[in-house]
Amino acid sequence: MQKITRLAALVVAGLCLLGTQAQAKKFEHLAQTPPMGWNSWNNFGCDVDEKLIKETADYMVSSGMKDAGYEYVNIDDCWHGERDANGFIQADPERFPSGIKALADYVHSKGLKFGIYSDAGWTTCGGKPGSRGYEFQDAQMYAKWGVDYLKYDWCATDGLKAEGAYQTMREAIHKAGRPMVFSICEWGDNQPWEWAKPIGHLWRTTGDIYNCFDCEYDHGTWSSWGVLQILDMQDDLRQYAGPGHWNDPDMMEVGNGMTEAEDRSHFSMWAMLAAPLIAGNDIRNMSEATRKILTNKAVIAVDQDELGVQGFKYSSKNGVEVWFKPLANDEWAMAVLNRNKGEVKFEFKWRNEVVKDELTHRTITFNEQKFDWQDLWNKSNKGHTKKFLKTKIAGHDTLMFRLTPAKN
Ligand code: GLA
Repeated sequence: MQKITRLAALVVAGLCLLGTQAQAKKFEHLAQTPPMGWNSWNNFGCDVDEKLIKETADYMVSSGMKDAGYEYVNIDDCWHGERDANGFIQADPERFPSGIKALADYVHSKGLKFGIYSDAGWTTCGGKPGSRGYEFQDAQMYAKWGVDYLKYDWCATDGLKAEGAYQTMREAIHKAGRPMVFSICEWGDNQPWEWAKPIGHLWRTTGDIYNCFDCEYDHGTWSSWGVLQILDMQDDLRQYAGPGHWNDPDMMEVGNGMTEAEDRSHFSMWAMLAAPLIAGNDIRNMSEATRKILTNKAVIAVDQDELGVQGFKYSSKNGVEVWFKPLANDEWAMAVLNRNKGEVKFEFKWRNEVVKDELTHRTITFNEQKFDWQDLWNKSNKGHTKKFLKTKIAGHDTLMFRLTPAKN
């Protein structure tokens, strides 16, 4: 009897092992640094068509964004038409008359990658067909079209469990056989940072951003959030992010109507957070000021640093926050964010400061270690931590520095 029980246990264990092995993994090495690209939603909403996407791909190249590291051109909600008789999803034939495959080919011909959007529920947030029940067919279709990135939303999912629903799509992508960055968009409702690392490459940590620096937009049953509000929701999440698995504080609103100082702060802080840098403006018509912010390679290098460590708030006083982000090769990034509407004076007596990063166990004792610094928004402004830093910061603006260990 005992033998039979042992045999049964062995069989069950064997089956479990087989089950685990059969479970597909996510495609690795697709997002070793936070993904960079563009997405249609923040500026265009449902008003998407193939002309917009093609022109955006053209401008990604001609504006210097591709050269600065932006890679993905992603259509968000509302590209969908009906499912065909066999259940396969089709693009809206009026908005995308050439079909998605031709569009992906066009984007690829520019040396860029192509992304699309779906939803784990029965419909998307824009009321288009969702992937619920069609996950494997949809992933197969995306693979056939040449999709490189899937953003997967969470509307119309009553009764579904987030982890399982996202796992199903991960399996479907794996089965379809084409590596795709998998962007989890369930707004942080189910603490994806606790379970999504083996499933996706990035996960939204909050509800939607909107084009305002310091506001909440109450839609009745939900709110969208300004830049500062979203920033404040990132506290305590940094230990979950790293190469291949990023916290996503949402796509950017740079160039969508905030002031230049606010856009600069937004971009600086997203870089300090090692956030995905997904532009959300009309890059075909952006101002030179917007273009310069989005293509500031020194700030982008902070975001894309190979160490992949999210920055942290070091101090906060009278609405002025000092942030640090450890970088590779013993370098650091530092940002000073002025949350106030008015200009402030800022003094930093380096020698009195000791910066400790609990996560990487790195410390800077400025009294003992000297750094050269470079201002990343005004590159000719350079200094040394031997001296005091004494400066002014305009309302809602941010200073950003790169600190390099001094040679002597
Ligand atoms: C949700 C997402 C947004 C966008 C819209 C599209 O609100 O969070 O980023 O994709 O749906 O309808």
